[in-house]
Amino acid sequence: MAQLLYEARGIARRYGHVHALRGADFTVYPGEIVALIVDNGAGKSSLVRILSGAGHSS
Ligand SMILES: Nc1ncnc2c1ncn2[C@@H]1O[C@H](COP(=O)(O)OP(=O)(O)O)[C@@H](O)[C@H]1O
Ligand SMILES: [Mg+2]
Repeated sequence: MAQLLYEARGIARRYGHVHALRGADFTVYPGEIVALIVDNGAGKSSLVRILSGAGHSS
């Protein structure tokens, strides 16, 4: 089993009553390239902001 590089579990982000992310998990192993391919508004930017520590601004 490869060693974990990055793991985050149960990620949540709300904008008022909008649940942009609810219980999202994200795992990366060394050497992996990860693509986020989902619909517009699915929460990609919110997720990347949280994972990168970029904070809450939109
Ligand atoms: N600053 C914000 N205020 C209110 N709603 C937001 C804000 N930023 C994002 N949202 C909402 O959160 C959801 C996810 O948005 P976002 O993370 O930008 O998705 P993506 O990058 O996949 O298009 C969408 O419903 C979007 O309208
Ligand atoms: Mg986006």
